[in-house]
Amino acid sequence: MNPSMPARPKKRVALHPASATAGRNVINIASGKGGVGKTWMAITLAHSLARQDEKVLLFDADFGLANIDVQLGLNAEQDLGDVVARKVAMSQVVTKFAEGGFDIIVGMSGSGQLADMGRERLSELKSELWQLAQRYDRVVIDLGAGLESAVRSLTPKGGMTLVVATDEPTSLTDAYAYIKVSMQENPSADMRLVINMATDQRQGERTYGALAKACRTFLNYTPPLMGIVRRDDHIPDAIRRQTAFLSRHPQSNAAQDVHALATTIRKQSTKFSGKPA
Ligand SMILES: Nc1ncnc2c1ncn2[C@@H]1O[C@H](COP(=O)(O)OP(=O)(O)O)[C@@H](O)[C@H]1O
Ligand SMILES: [Mg+2]
Repeated sequence: MNPSMPARPKKRVALHPASATAGRNVINIASGKGGVGKTWMAITLAHSLARQDEKVLLFDADFGLANIDVQLGLNAEQDLGDVVARKVAMSQVVTKFAEGGFDIIVGMSGSGQLADMGRERLSELKSELWQLAQRYDRVVIDLGAGLESAVRSLTPKGGMTLVVATDEPTSLTDAYAYIKVSMQENPSADMRLVINMATDQRQGERTYGALAKACRTFLNYTPPLMGIVRRDDHIPDAIRRQTAFLSRHPQSNAAQDVHALATTIRKQSTKFSGKPA
């Protein structure tokens, strides 16, 4: 360091986003409603991207019902709760998930909601996350269900949000509401759809069509379809056994569908490094 240059005060650095491109490598997995397969999708997408040679961080931001560790049977020594309590830095709670070839930051289940945290603390945590994100090709975030702005505020400007919906009426209305409030807050938000638990491709397309039509009509925005994942009984099996789905059922329908989703994402986005995907 040039001794004539005054050192930048540490606190200021931490309170500002790392750079103009920070967050571009972030994929948020969101839904209006719980129980649509968001956590499973976040894990399996991270796993699939890692298999396609990306360096991936999976971040559990579902502070109310964090359960990435539960689905994978992980026993992390430290989690996000220790970061929030200011015991350690975020980079110190990264757990290596060797089997999947990607890194995980385990959430802090039952420790209250993101909304309880206070704006300033949340903003500090976001800065820490975006700085850490620069070490990765991709960061996949399992956002909590719900419409509160605190949940959505983890979404960086340049990142992409995959809204997961199923053909259940409540999932459709909640996905629509999620897109609506997100667009009101940030009209340039990059919102895309993934249909989960589809009986088959055609039914998934119909579900997408209904949701896209509502968005087009009332929001003047048509979120693109990124993928359809079929209903697959191998998923509850893998979750029950607390094993990574792609390791246990690599040839299953849902595994193929998530690989296709990962490929689509890679084709349609530029990696943070600026290299074509
Ligand atoms: N494509 C699918 N086919 C069958 N079951 C699924 C599928 N996706 C998710 N599930 C089941 O849905 C349940 C909820 O999944 P989870 O990932 O916890 O959802 P969320 O995070 O949205 O609450 C799990 O029991 C899982 O087995
Ligand atoms: Mg979940």
